[in-house]
Amino acid sequence: MSDLPFFLGRLVRRPHEVAAVAPSSQALARAMAMEVPDDAIPGPVVELGPGTGRITRALLERGVAPPDLHCFEMSADFADHIRHNFDGVNVHHAPAQSLGQSGLRDVGAVISGLPLLSIPNPVVEDILNASFSVLRPGGVFVQFTYGPTPPVPEELREKLRLSHIRGRRIWNNLPPARIYTFRGTAELA
Ligand SMILES: C[S@@+](CC[C@H](N)C(=O)[O-])C[C@H]1O[C@@H](n2cnc3c(N)ncnc32)[C@H](O)[C@@H]1O
Repeated sequence: MSDLPFFLGRLVRRPHEVAAVAPSSQALARAMAMEVPDDAIPGPVVELGPGTGRITRALLERGVAPPDLHCFEMSADFADHIRHNFDGVNVHHAPAQSLGQSGLRDVGAVISGLPLLSIPNPVVEDILNASFSVLRPGGVFVQFTYGPTPPVPEELREKLRLSHIRGRRIWNNLPPARIYTFRGTAELA
């Protein structure tokens, strides 16, 4: 059954949290999952804001084992949906900002489906700090955006000493999106 009506229902009730007109396409979800480094599997991988689970499914198809996948979802409805549809996946009904207190360590990749551009800068900073506190050296923070510039503002990238790689545009998504992969450089200094 299509997950679109469920997604749209949440969008109407919580527009600022969902902040997208449709779930990610399969093409975007697969491209996000391909950003998990080969040597991060097996090992813990985090997904932020899974929604109806398009990227969750792509991460499992990429080879992440369900017990290695940790999803952080703020909406109780979406968290329940992921629990019921993806056996064995760890679902944390908690905001992404709480990732640092989860006890997770040595995470190979944080894959974010969060609407980062709709989130206030201090909260984005908390989310990035939490993510890089659990990522292992060389681990990646992956984020898609519909906007023309990197989804983390330059000031914050400089403050947190993040480098980034700009991926190709995924046209087969509503709207077209681009994937950015961020790495911490402080550990190299
Ligand atoms: C744009 S939807 C993306 C859903 C899915 N990842 C996709 O690509 O189809 C954003 C998701 O992030 C969740 N969300 C928003 N802010 C959050 C936060 N601070 N922590 C955890 N989840 C959050 C929303 O509930 C929603 O599921």
